[in-house]
Amino acid sequence: METIQKCTSLLWVFMFALARSENVVITEIMTLRSTESVSPHCDQHTSLSCNITSQDEPTIFLFAWSAPNKTALCELKDGHLSTHNGVNCVFKGQQLVLTIHHTKPIHQGQYVCKLRSNLGIKSAFTHLKLQECHHSLHVHSRDGNSTCRARGVYPEAHIHWFQGSKNLTDSSVAHPSVRHEDGTYEIASTLLHRPHSTLNCSLWSPSSGRYLSSTRTREEMTPPEGVRGSSSTYGGTRTTVALFAAALILL
Ligand SMILES: *[C@@H]1O[C@H](CO)[C@@H](O)[C@H](O)[C@H]1NC(C)=O
Ligand SMILES: *[C@@H]1O[C@H](CO)[C@@H](O)[C@H](O)[C@H]1NC(C)=O
Ligand SMILES: *[C@@H]1O[C@H](CO)[C@@H](O)[C@H](O)[C@H]1NC(C)=O
Ligand SMILES: *[C@@H]1O[C@H](CO)[C@@H](O)[C@H](O)[C@H]1NC(C)=O
Ligand SMILES: *[C@@H]1O[C@H](CO)[C@@H](O)[C@H](O)[C@H]1NC(C)=O
Repeated sequence: METIQKCTSLLWVFMFALARSENVVITEIMTLRSTESVSPHCDQHTSLSCNITSQDEPTIFLFAWSAPNKTALCELKDGHLSTHNGVNCVFKGQQLVLTIHHTKPIHQGQYVCKLRSNLGIKSAFTHLKLQECHHSLHVHSRDGNSTCRARGVYPEAHIHWFQGSKNLTDSSVAHPSVRHEDGTYEIASTLLHRPHSTLNCSLWSPSSGRYLSSTRTREEMTPPEGVRGSSSTYGGTRTTVALFAAALILL
């Protein structure tokens, strides 16, 4: 009786070991690994890599990256690499790299890398999530009304107005926001009848709970239009605002 029990447990140990070693063998034949997640800034380029690791070089039947909407973006088939929808793809050293040139909100989501080969079928996933983004804020004043506008905003944000430390947002009128094809928003707000005062127009992001950027009007000068550069989340915007301000001053 005891011998049978011993035998049985030995058998279990043996089977467990076998199952384990088999697992190891299977994973060692070939693995497919892609970047887990990427979070680029708007308009920047993003590269997603998908790597094959194997002891023997596999015969590839299909190696592909597809978009969150299931559209194939790059496909390596019969030794021929084809790309679609304006992306760039490179296959080199068992690695398929997909590059999106100007990353926009519509590019967000789960990308799938797929491999069909003589060593098996594998897939890997990469999640793309954009950082907050916006272009520069512009203020346009006419007859005492000031309108502040921001383009390329993502996610949707709001405009708040200040005069010194006074919050004037409640006396402003927000225009309906416009969603562009690339997934970014254009937002605007008008503050009525505030002539001859320095106003601060700020971009408020409800999703991160902070001010992303702001700009100030200078009302001392006639004609009644003036924009001043200010801080922003990325350098390019600051330069643009400064250039815009310079252009206005020269005009
Ligand atoms: C793929 O391989 C390249 C080159 O060896 C490496 O730089 C990259 O980090 C790898 N990517 C992943 C997701 O493992
Ligand atoms: C699917 O996504 C690609 C890449 O983001 C895009 O170019 C294409 O227009 C989309 N197709 C559809 C049907 O939405
Ligand atoms: C300024 O706002 C007032 C009040 O809404 C409006 O009547 C006027 O037409 C506006 N002026 C301009 C130039 O938009
Ligand atoms: C300014 O007023 C708006 C609208 O009432 C409010 O949502 C916002 O939090 C205020 N901002 C500050 C810095 O007081
Ligand atoms: C405008 O007001 C916001 C909120 O009070 C502040 O964070 C920002 O520094 C101000 N910007 C300018 C240019 O004064």
